[in-house]
Amino acid sequence: MEVTMAIGLAWVFGIVPVAIWLLLRWNDLWYGLSVKRRCSDTGTKLPPGYMGVPFLGEMLSFLWYFKFLRRPDDFIDSKQHKYGKGLGIYKTHLFGSPSIICCSPSFTKFIYQTEANFTMDWPTMDILGHHSSMNAQGTSHIRLKNFLTRAVNQPVALRRIATMVQPRVASALRSWAEKGTIIGYTEAKKVTLENIGKLLANIEPGTVLETLDKMIAGMFKGIRSHPINFPGTDYHYGVQCRKKATWIFREELERRKKKQVEGTNITNDVMDGLMTFKDDEGEQLDDMEVIDNIIGLLFGGYESTTIVLTWALYYLAKCPHVLRKLREEHMPFAKNKDGEFITSDEISKLKYTSKEPSKPGTFLAFGGGSRICAGNMLARLQIAIFIHHLATGYKWELVNPNAGVTYLPHPKPADGLEINISRL
Ligand code: HEM
Repeated sequence: MEVTMAIGLAWVFGIVPVAIWLLLRWNDLWYGLSVKRRCSDTGTKLPPGYMGVPFLGEMLSFLWYFKFLRRPDDFIDSKQHKYGKGLGIYKTHLFGSPSIICCSPSFTKFIYQTEANFTMDWPTMDILGHHSSMNAQGTSHIRLKNFLTRAVNQPVALRRIATMVQPRVASALRSWAEKGTIIGYTEAKKVTLENIGKLLANIEPGTVLETLDKMIAGMFKGIRSHPINFPGTDYHYGVQCRKKATWIFREELERRKKKQVEGTNITNDVMDGLMTFKDDEGEQLDDMEVIDNIIGLLFGGYESTTIVLTWALYYLAKCPHVLRKLREEHMPFAKNKDGEFITSDEISKLKYTSKEPSKPGTFLAFGGGSRICAGNMLARLQIAIFIHHLATGYKWELVNPNAGVTYLPHPKPADGLEINISRL
């Protein structure tokens, strides 16, 4: 009897609390000890923070703040409160990987500038593509990045793209005004997809573009989930979507190669560029490099641009003084055009439109260092073109000015941004 009681007490006061403590501290101990072992001579330590329980890390707390409370800043604030503002970096464990949360521009810049010290662990390459620039390091990254930059980010490409995308932007806005009330996010997504499909691989609206839209959404779901590749999980679905997107572009590549042999391939889009450019050694990208990087451009450029257009509609409706200044800057270009469209060279001269925050070095929306967004000039151009047609031709107001914000997979107004829009 006494022995049974002693065992019971040992469980209640000894084994169970120790097991719980170990569970709660496991990641901190595991990763902390591993750093100590590897860096004992330099005295390197992990930053303050909490790495959560095995496997899940801090995912539950992250989802609690981001998805249920819809107060993502509180997730960071709670860390600053607990561990001090200090350097503004905290250790954590998210999406299945040990991670660092970095919330100061100077530290973010430091990371971008010392990128060689880091390896890519997330998002996983099963979704991003093993031959994508995002997976490459060192000289192979520089080589791939040069190809991408030539294809989408240099003045010659931008001039062509400006001409290509404008008719769609202008006609999309006309149709919005005809409808009167629209869901801004859905419509911005549609026009962005049509433009990016056209400029990347000459894909016109239709079933292929609709399938790609679904595949990209699935891939985003996959990278924003725990990486468990098991049927039924979001991650597994993301990997399947990736495979299907690869298959679509492989078919397109084969079709183009055949046409090249026949001498009839004259699409002159980004995909053609990636297939034909040569590097300094006269080497071309191989098939998988073309496919993975065209998907990388679609993945990197589609949702990101859509979200910015949505927030542009939102904030310009809320800040009429900014809209007024934009109108003043853009009107002379709209009036002088006589049916023609604004050019990328004219856009580059619009000072107010391209203004960045006044504190130098704090605008890091496009990343930095060698990993800086490959399409940053293209994104700026697309946003400026949209603002040009919007500000010079339309007025609009938010139907639900106090609608909340949803934060996953990306921040957007909870009502999808319902607006009433009409011609000026
Ligand atoms: C407003 C829109 C955009 C934003 C905010 C944005 C943001 C970013 C950021 C922060 C990175 C760096 C990621 C990292 O640190 O590894 C990045 C990389 C990248 N972005 Fe964008 N992006 C936008 C539009 C675009 C567009 C339009 C394209 C192309 C069509 C594009 C293609 C890429 C690619 C390929 C990379 C990887 C670069 C590399 O491997 O070094 N992005 N983007």
